[in-house]
Amino acid sequence: MSALASRLGILLSGRGSNFLAIAENIAQGKLAACEIAVVISNKADAPGLESARARGLKAVAIEARGRKRAEHDAEIIARLREHKVDLVCLAGYMRLLSTEFVQTFPERILNIHPSLLPAFPGLDAQEQAFAYGVQVAGCTVHFVDEQLDHGVIVLQKTVPVLEGDDAHALSARILEQEHIAYSEAIARVLSGEYRMVGRRYVKP
Ligand code: GRF
Repeated sequence: MSALASRLGILLSGRGSNFLAIAENIAQGKLAACEIAVVISNKADAPGLESARARGLKAVAIEARGRKRAEHDAEIIARLREHKVDLVCLAGYMRLLSTEFVQTFPERILNIHPSLLPAFPGLDAQEQAFAYGVQVAGCTVHFVDEQLDHGVIVLQKTVPVLEGDDAHALSARILEQEHIAYSEAIARVLSGEYRMVGRRYVKP
């Protein structure tokens, strides 16, 4: 449970199931001191934007195509500031952030990735893990830096690979854990009850 009220800014590019899980947890009072201030997508046709509008949330498309990263990021930063966002949650946002973006929200940008980082960064992480033959898979919520799927780890959840699994079944079970992990990580970060020692996220 978070100690201070916080305004979340969600960035997504697609389906938006992680965003919806966060919204649902807020609605159910599990992240009571949070509200979603704005949902932003770099793709106008992202289903997540439609879901946000259906929930009565402010949802904005800021198309990235054909624009320089710095210019696109500057517009997103402006929108986040306009909506007084204090925690940015990347939820299937398929773009790297510029240094300026990262420095504008120090320790205030989270991402979720469907593998136990540092294994299998990048696209199709669940398929990569399955093809590699791992016996334990999972998901990671981490602070965002300028490198892909790289910042300090806030929380990980493991998912066993079961006999008879295929990549699709494994992805679905990882996704269930993602939907739990992201809200837990948000609550942890907003509690302020941690410090960072190098790359280690340390609880008191
Ligand atoms: C999730 O698997 C997330 O870990 C990854 O992108 C996917 C987004 O799914 N970063 P959704 O749009 O939240 O349903």
